[in-house]
Amino acid sequence: MSINKIGVLGAGLMGSGIAQVAAVSGFEVKVLEVNEAALHKGLSGVEKSLSRFVEKGTLSAEAKAATLARLNGTTRMEDLAESDIIIEAIIENLDIKRETYAKLDSLCADHTIFASNTSSLSITEMMTATTPERQRRFVGMHFFNPVPMMKLVEVVRTIVTDDEAYAEACALGTAMGKTVVQTSDKTGFIVNRLLVPYMLDAIRVYEEGLASTVDIDNAMKLGCGYPMGPLTLSDFVGLDTTMYIANIMFDEFKEKRFAAPPLLKRMVQAGMLGRKSGRGFYDYSDPKNPVPLKLN
Ligand SMILES: NC(=O)c1ccc[n+]([C@@H]2O[C@H](COP(=O)([O-])OP(=O)(O)OC[C@H]3O[C@@H](n4cnc5c(N)ncnc54)[C@H](O)[C@@H]3O)[C@@H](O)[C@H]2O)c1
Repeated sequence: MSINKIGVLGAGLMGSGIAQVAAVSGFEVKVLEVNEAALHKGLSGVEKSLSRFVEKGTLSAEAKAATLARLNGTTRMEDLAESDIIIEAIIENLDIKRETYAKLDSLCADHTIFASNTSSLSITEMMTATTPERQRRFVGMHFFNPVPMMKLVEVVRTIVTDDEAYAEACALGTAMGKTVVQTSDKTGFIVNRLLVPYMLDAIRVYEEGLASTVDIDNAMKLGCGYPMGPLTLSDFVGLDTTMYIANIMFDEFKEKRFAAPPLLKRMVQAGMLGRKSGRGFYDYSDPKNPVPLKLN
């Protein structure tokens, strides 16, 4: 693998996690943010996360110091010009991502691979903001939250990605300690393609009165060994985010199983967004003891 230097765009929830794992894995990492405050927030989050690994005894104090020495932040896009790969984790907005890729394209070396961590946008639509040469070196690298803990990365190829660039991105995922699954540029990739209809179905069966919130969650937790039930999971992900992804997937495939059920729409309209708003399928007034709400 010829990747040594990694540029990360965005030091939010995902970008800071990706930067952390890349630096722990021995790569030189430069993280770009929109301003010093956002950069400071992201990098201090990494420092805190690394300290927790040291406290748990899974990372030595020397390894933490070496990791932080490999990790640098910047607010100047020019500082990413030397990167062998750029992993982009900025806000989920196609226009902003395209604008950013177009600027980076003219700054970066010919060999630089561009990788997006998008959950729902088309890699192909992003890649066309760059030159045809770069388009062949454009992939998706979809990590999971929290990146330091979650072992999976979906590596996504488009219909024009060249084999060598794709193999490099896959090798990088492995070098970052993740299990790589290979997939192609269709909305939702593997995980959301299977997970989103499952969550929507759980809402549909609740809506039709098949069972209570708690019984649906317990059935899937205890009957299938899932770590949490689908309605708890929907609250955790955020009902607005769940509906947003469902809508994008429905638009792509035009299949009923991706259509947002009326109850989900009404909950979002009512501001019941799940854990983050305090109410969803459960009331989180006491976050440790969620109380199921009666919604039909
Ligand atoms: N949150 C998740 O669970 C999750 C999981 C997988 C993938 N993703 C994807 O990762 C991406 C980032 O999501 P997030 O949850 O980390 O968002 P976030 O809001 O936590 O972070 C985004 C960061 O990008 C920065 N930013 C915005 N525009 C920028 C620019 N032009 N240049 C540099 N930085 C810029 C913002 O200041 C912010 O800090 C999105 O594409 C999202 O779909 C999110």
